[in-house]
Amino acid sequence: MTRGQQVAGQRPSIRAMGLRCLGGAAVAAMLVSIGMGRSAAQSRSMAPAQIRIAFGADPRTTFSVAWQCETDAPGSVVLYGQSPRLGRTAPATRAAYKWETGSVYEAQLTGLRPDREFYYRVGSPNGGWSEVHQSRTAPGAREDFTFTAFGDQGVSPAAKQNVEHIVAEKPAFHLVLGDLSYANGRQAVWDTWFSQNEPLTRIIPFMPAVGNHENEKIGDLKIGYASFLARFSLPAPETRYSFDYSGVRFISFNSDDYQNPDQLKWFDDLLARTKQDDTVRWVVVFMHHPLYSSNVRRLNNTGLIEVMRPRLEAGGVDLVLTGHNHNYERSYALMRDQVTNHSPNRYRRGGGIVYVVSGGGGKSLYQFVPEQPAITAFREATEHYLRVKVDKRGPIVVEAVRTSDRHVMDRFELRR
Ligand SMILES: [Fe+2]
Repeated sequence: MTRGQQVAGQRPSIRAMGLRCLGGAAVAAMLVSIGMGRSAAQSRSMAPAQIRIAFGADPRTTFSVAWQCETDAPGSVVLYGQSPRLGRTAPATRAAYKWETGSVYEAQLTGLRPDREFYYRVGSPNGGWSEVHQSRTAPGAREDFTFTAFGDQGVSPAAKQNVEHIVAEKPAFHLVLGDLSYANGRQAVWDTWFSQNEPLTRIIPFMPAVGNHENEKIGDLKIGYASFLARFSLPAPETRYSFDYSGVRFISFNSDDYQNPDQLKWFDDLLARTKQDDTVRWVVVFMHHPLYSSNVRRLNNTGLIEVMRPRLEAGGVDLVLTGHNHNYERSYALMRDQVTNHSPNRYRRGGGIVYVVSGGGGKSLYQFVPEQPAITAFREATEHYLRVKVDKRGPIVVEAVRTSDRHVMDRFELRR
């Protein structure tokens, strides 16, 4: 949250449309179990839903939790700890925005120990409590790990199937490569999308980059990133951020605003510091818009290439993960728009950057132009997700996995 707190007593201007927190029977049973005297209708509206977690400033020790209720739930907190007995309490703040569909709460879990499970539940005395969920802090020393990613998800059968696949993968965290809900101003769509994704987001740190569809309009009114900022709790300043996980620096760049000088200075400074940091073995940039593509709707983005390519190359970036085009397209290792290594699937650190378009999260697909560009190693117009395995001493292995049958359609590795 970076917008102001809600003024006490202010009512949301748009009420929840069809927002479901918990089933009525489940809420009634819970109320009986906790001995509440309020009516089921009153209490249902304060029940927590759409729970999502993300890394805090340091993934080894801090997490954020955010959720939504149909109406204000005073006294909202997260109960948490590193055993199922919980034992610690994090107070929640109310994250308000003018077009909200309910009451968003968020809280910071701090003081966690690295490389450990933690357990939490969210709720309030009158609204009731979620189930206890668990996740895991980042390791203190370098360990092998797997993360997953996709972009351009929306709400669809394939989008839901991808949620189930990611949950089954049990990754350390999940990156979203922009264009999340496709609310496009219709704020209730965010609720449907968060509800669709909750089986994933309540247990796997969910780390989105901003896409063009997060820059919203309601009718003719530009509301910008208001929904994104209020509904997520990410490392500051949220529309861009970085975090380290087991020797890999992940940088979320806002490609929807790529010419912003403040962001470019931040990006350049961060990459300069990263080069001096010998705890960082790999640098992964994730953002929405790709530099290179070859589909019927979009070819190479010359403006983005001009601004970003020199920075990515000079900054020692190894891998660039993007979305925006609703398909999969992956380059060879490139330097100055030229192929530096024609291997179909093995590249070396420092020998060029591999660019991945992974926009097959669930929206309708874009087909390719007939001729495959010389810089493209593999492309396929299929719903999919990325599974990326990082070996603490060895390579990064990237696999593109089809949503329909979980077949690995493309696989490549980066070695040091
Ligand atoms: Fe997009």
